[in-house]
Amino acid sequence: MTAQALASKLHENGRLDNDEWIRLLSVTEKNDIEDIRIAADRVRREKYGTSVYLRALIEISSYCKNDCYYCGIRCGNKNASRFRLSREEILSSCKNAYELGFRTFVLQGGEDMYFSDDVFCTIISDIKNSFPDCALTLSVGEKSRLTYKRYYDAGADRYLLRHETANNEHYRKLHPQKQKLSERIQCLYYLKDIGFQVGSGFMVGSPYQTVETLAEDMSFLSELRPQMVGIGPFLPHKDTEFAHFPSGSASYTCYLLSLIRLMLPDSLIPATTALGTVEKGGREKGLRSGANVIMPNLSPNEVRSKYSLYDNKLSTGAETREKLTQLALDVSAAGYETDMGRGDFKPSN
Ligand code: 5AD
Repeated sequence: MTAQALASKLHENGRLDNDEWIRLLSVTEKNDIEDIRIAADRVRREKYGTSVYLRALIEISSYCKNDCYYCGIRCGNKNASRFRLSREEILSSCKNAYELGFRTFVLQGGEDMYFSDDVFCTIISDIKNSFPDCALTLSVGEKSRLTYKRYYDAGADRYLLRHETANNEHYRKLHPQKQKLSERIQCLYYLKDIGFQVGSGFMVGSPYQTVETLAEDMSFLSELRPQMVGIGPFLPHKDTEFAHFPSGSASYTCYLLSLIRLMLPDSLIPATTALGTVEKGGREKGLRSGANVIMPNLSPNEVRSKYSLYDNKLSTGAETREKLTQLALDVSAAGYETDMGRGDFKPSN
């Protein structure tokens, strides 16, 4: 089967067999990749038109109990300077975002034990009471089913938790032994079951990733059928054991964005900060490859440099009207329009 035939099969069935994935993921022919990009862009336009949904990303804490080998805020990094926003700072970041027009807030942070269920649920309900017309997304890692249920009952709408890799051995090369792939996957199913709109995903070009592990990532996504999928290139961080591994490629990330769009036509897929960091114009290329979300950083200025997952992070701030206007211009130059509505998942059937 040709690359295009495999891509059409993927779009029609929402899945491929392992050997088909391996063939599709190994395509290097530029014309094939461009044809698949065009097909993905067509699918995206059928579902969501030219809208690019903007989400206000608020980084709430760089304390983390985990030690993921790739991540700059892992607990073992003694050079990291840590921060944690107070409830008031989180609320005022939301207010600032709201006044700029954002209607989705994403609270992201390390697994910081300071945020007990009570503390965090109060923050969630405060946000939802202050901004009832907004969607609230959380991205704060692995929790018990009960904790997720509390977050949901307090008003959270969506949850992002990348699976990172769906292959066990690969997972063990990226994380300490006590972090388990099975537990992460269990979390994703709990979240779905509770009723969250769920996002998963992985880094592209992470150390020891192969076409075979990627085939498992894609099969995993086709089974989970998340409403959101976040992928971005791996970028080394100087204070990690992967400091000397190469970055993931922007063009391969864009190719995978196209495949994900074909597989999950209704999904909300960000053109990530990491993609914009690895290559100038990367984010725009991501949009043209099937992505339909951008998550500008609305964290308070003082803490931004401390939320350092990888080196040289692009500052995609949109905290001022001028920067937001510039972002809208960049997006429209790529052929799309920014949309500041809630931008909920729209299932086709
Ligand atoms: N490069 C790229 N992405 C990273 N993340 C963490 N560290 C890095 C890195 N060095 C991603 C992980 C995580 C998300 C919040 O950031 O996939 O789930």
